[in-house]
Amino acid sequence: MLRVRIAVFISGNGTNLQALIDSEKNGILETGEIALVISNNEEAYGIRRAEDNGIPCEVIKRGGYDSQAEFEEAIKSALRNYEIDIIVLAGYMSILSPDFIDSYPRRIINIHPSLIPSFCGKGYYGIHVHEAALKYGVKVTGATVHYVNEIPDGGEIILQKAVEIEPEDNALSLQQRVMREAEWIILPQAAEYVCRQYLKSMCKQ
Ligand code: GRF
Repeated sequence: MLRVRIAVFISGNGTNLQALIDSEKNGILETGEIALVISNNEEAYGIRRAEDNGIPCEVIKRGGYDSQAEFEEAIKSALRNYEIDIIVLAGYMSILSPDFIDSYPRRIINIHPSLIPSFCGKGYYGIHVHEAALKYGVKVTGATVHYVNEIPDGGEIILQKAVEIEPEDNALSLQQRVMREAEWIILPQAAEYVCRQYLKSMCKQ
């Protein structure tokens, strides 16, 4: 069976990448295959996860290029070389321009560790999201997978999953629980959904 080719963009530990790799093995990700990992950080542990699973990995750093346009051209060139159809941003900490995003309409998705529209947008990334949720005092948080458009965390929502905040939670424990109870579950499900949508759109052409 011809499978949709996915590139996963990472910057750090890559536990969401691991969840995608595992989901390909257990069949939750059925119509897609992880064909490439792109990291903007050569020290990201996620690179090791890719290597351990025989997935090609390219390190492409913004600092290695004079302009955003050249940086993004390098990414696009890698995506072309590996014939990538779909991009999954999984803890990717580099900004992509509206130009880049426009080149892959409804073909880029992102995982965000809150229930959008809460605690999202500019400045809400990583541990800051969980600090803000605790500071506000919400009793339920969670994770969201959404299409990427030019508005940070503003694209159409694909899947969400709620996580209850426990009285003893701190930002770190909450971050871990949101990953375990929400992110690692909905990201593979959303990736499969987007691959199926992509296949449908190709059939119509
Ligand atoms: C996750 O919480 C993700 O939602 C956020 O960054 C974290 C990445 O973790 N955007 P990992 O690299 O997948 O372990």
